[in-house]
Amino acid sequence: MAARWVLVLLVAWPGATGVTGAAVQDSVLNTCMDAKHHKAEPGPEGELYGQCSLWKDNACCTANTSVEAHRDQSYLYGFNWDHCGVMPARCKRHFIQDTCLYECSPNLGPWIDQADTSWRRQRILHVPLCREDCEQWWEDCKDAFTCKENWHKGWNWTSGTNRCPRGSLCRRFSAVFPSPAALCELVWSHSYRFSALSRDSGRCIRLWWDPAEGNPNVAVARFYASGAAPPGPSRLPVPAVLGLLLPALRGVL
Ligand SMILES: *[C@@H]1O[C@H](CO)[C@@H](O)[C@H](O)[C@H]1NC(C)=O
Ligand SMILES: *[C@@H]1O[C@H](CO)[C@@H](O)[C@H](O)[C@H]1NC(C)=O
Repeated sequence: MAARWVLVLLVAWPGATGVTGAAVQDSVLNTCMDAKHHKAEPGPEGELYGQCSLWKDNACCTANTSVEAHRDQSYLYGFNWDHCGVMPARCKRHFIQDTCLYECSPNLGPWIDQADTSWRRQRILHVPLCREDCEQWWEDCKDAFTCKENWHKGWNWTSGTNRCPRGSLCRRFSAVFPSPAALCELVWSHSYRFSALSRDSGRCIRLWWDPAEGNPNVAVARFYASGAAPPGPSRLPVPAVLGLLLPALRGVL
């Protein structure tokens, strides 16, 4: 009886912590955040529309969401890109792509954070966006206009869509966001972090890629998930664990 107890404990302790560590890593891979329009689980979506079709092999968005992502003041959030005059198409395509990544990507798990707001339980925080994707976004938007730095908060929604709050003037993006990093990091309250890494580094998340390549963010998420493995008691050498356990066991048994 006593011998069996000891055996169970010895097998269970180091083993259990190791299993927990692995489970934590796996659960952030191939996952959908708990937010307003995301599917519960990622899966193939053959009918994804337009710019969102990059995710058709495995997506957290539905076909409906992918269509809506391309519309002004869409069913998704009612968000008005044209709050300071019409946003030029070459700029808007980046916001559409950003919406596609947010809604469709199953590779953002390492950066999912609890939000606990009225409209979503989870958000993304500090996703390392590849330098070129952010720089191109800024370049194509720098002459567009906006009245706000943080687009998550502070709008006047009384009309049903976001309008500039009284006293906030429309200015060029380049004045509101003096650099690519300022745009990518501030516009969605730090959902992204500007990465100094290049898009071919395999260490940053891409908004755009050649559909022939396959989704490059799968490997990026895997890299950050393994790096995030917490060192646990499983790292204790077994003799040390034994030394701690045996005197205690002797007292109990
Ligand atoms: C998407 O679904 C919503 C809610 O059912 C609906 O109002 C909207 O028209 C749909 N959009 C498209 C493009 O089918
Ligand atoms: C919000 O917009 C409404 C008109 O739609 C206006 O009457 C109100 O003063 C605005 N409030 C703020 C704080 O800008």
